[in-house]
Amino acid sequence: MIEPQDCGDGDEHEATPQTVPTLPSMPRERVPLQKSSVCSRSYFMVVMVFFHVYIINVIALLFYVHYNNTPGDVLASPSREAQSGSESGFQRDIYLPRLEGIRVGHVQKVSLMPGKTHEMRTLSLKPLLFEIPGFLSEEECRVVVQLAQLKGLMESQVMVPEGQEELTEQLNLSSEEIFNLLDLNQDGQLQLQEILTHSRVLDGIWLTPENLREIYVGLKADPDGNGLLSLEEFRLLGSDAFQRFLQQRGVKSSQLVRNSRHTWLYQGQGSHQVLQDLKKRVTRLTRLPSALVDLSEPLQVVRYGQGGHYHAHHDSGPVYPETVCTHTRLAANASTPFETSCRYITVLFYLNSVEEGGETAFPVADNRTYEEVSLIQNNVDLMDTRKNCDKSNLRVKPVKGTAVFWYNYLSDGQGWVGEQDEYSLHGGCVVTRGTKWVANNWINIDPDYQRQARYQQLVSLQEGEGAEDGDEPDEDGPPSQVTDAHQEL
Ligand SMILES: *[C@@H]1O[C@H](CO)[C@@H](O)[C@H](O)[C@H]1NC(C)=O
Ligand SMILES: *[C@@H]1O[C@H](CO)[C@@H](O)[C@H](O)[C@H]1NC(C)=O
Ligand SMILES: *[C@@H]1O[C@H](CO)[C@@H](O)[C@H](O)[C@H]1NC(C)=O
Repeated sequence: MIEPQDCGDGDEHEATPQTVPTLPSMPRERVPLQKSSVCSRSYFMVVMVFFHVYIINVIALLFYVHYNNTPGDVLASPSREAQSGSESGFQRDIYLPRLEGIRVGHVQKVSLMPGKTHEMRTLSLKPLLFEIPGFLSEEECRVVVQLAQLKGLMESQVMVPEGQEELTEQLNLSSEEIFNLLDLNQDGQLQLQEILTHSRVLDGIWLTPENLREIYVGLKADPDGNGLLSLEEFRLLGSDAFQRFLQQRGVKSSQLVRNSRHTWLYQGQGSHQVLQDLKKRVTRLTRLPSALVDLSEPLQVVRYGQGGHYHAHHDSGPVYPETVCTHTRLAANASTPFETSCRYITVLFYLNSVEEGGETAFPVADNRTYEEVSLIQNNVDLMDTRKNCDKSNLRVKPVKGTAVFWYNYLSDGQGWVGEQDEYSLHGGCVVTRGTKWVANNWINIDPDYQRQARYQQLVSLQEGEGAEDGDEPDEDGPPSQVTDAHQEL
């Protein structure tokens, strides 16, 4: 403010001596020239002031960035470390490794056992999915199948889904509330696909658009015949009316969500060497702490006969604050209606090469977007592996000894398990010729770090007590674990 005035004054003083002798008009023209030289000192000061302010701003910005970043890390790790003191046996600064997919088709060498390397190919990035040929030898495949046969297999799904009515009672929802939950687009009417999407939540009879229309006719559920259910029409039905109608009509196993037989093989100490080797290989493959792999579900062996299938599903559900994981229920507080199996990773082994059909389909692998409602459109149900496997984005052909594995959850960005990866939707296409044998290893990790830590502590305490009694440590974890897994499947 002051400087421009100084400038004006100084300029008149110094300009006059040179310009006076000649034309009076000239000084005006020369003034600007003089001005700059006269002003340069103050001009310099202005520049310097701005320069300093600028530098200070830059420094302030650097400090801001610095402190904004470090507190995040600093907060995250000390709080994690703080707990490691109390939760002995489970380091708090644990960081779950996650393999890099790089890009679809990328091949990396992995060392899973001494003296041999395997090639691991990236099949998709959403979900992060890999294929490893020759993960099991022919001999190992044979042993696993025989052990399963020896143990005996049971139907993977009984006709009447249990738990569905219990859950509805527990939640105590009115018809209106259920209607609103189903009405995804909130248009006050239920379209066919809104009812179908809901029916996929639990195992049961697989509803198709055709048999839903049949039900409407059979139950006279849709008097105006427009293919939509209004709240009034829905209220007359009750939420399990659809399943009940189909049950009364008689159900074939091909109409169920899954049509297979399975059994569980324990992989801990004392189990067959092949099963223990497999677990070691899975630990090396996933690079996860062996404690996490050891405390996971046993190996599941599944047999699909000719005509067998498993419609598309997620191996593990989304995690809400009220959700508990089946495997850490010991460490959870109160009973909650939501429970899921928290399978961070699925490792699927093909134990034989299927003559025809039986591919593993990933309907939305690497799709640009994912929307649950888009799975059923124009009567095409992408989750239906009896009809629409050919429309899946990705299909893996079962080849004896090959393993595929994928992550069912994303990372939380801080080295732990984050949200469910909806793109991990997958199913078993119908086996059109021959038999299909597969095995599943699931790595269970609770997205709630605290609960996982508490659970591991409880298990290690139990093991300690077992050892004092002179027994072998209880490697299987809680005995309830295996039975729960049955229900989840
Ligand atoms: C369910 O809710 C109704 C009212 O909405 C209530 O009268 C009834 O007692 C509830 N039943 C249970 C089992 O909570
Ligand atoms: C379980 O209860 C304990 C003690 O009441 C509490 O400190 C803890 O936050 C609870 N944990 C969960 C997961 O609700
Ligand atoms: C797959 O991506 C396409 C393109 O973004 C989208 O139109 C379609 O709805 C997606 N499919 C699903 C099931 O979300």
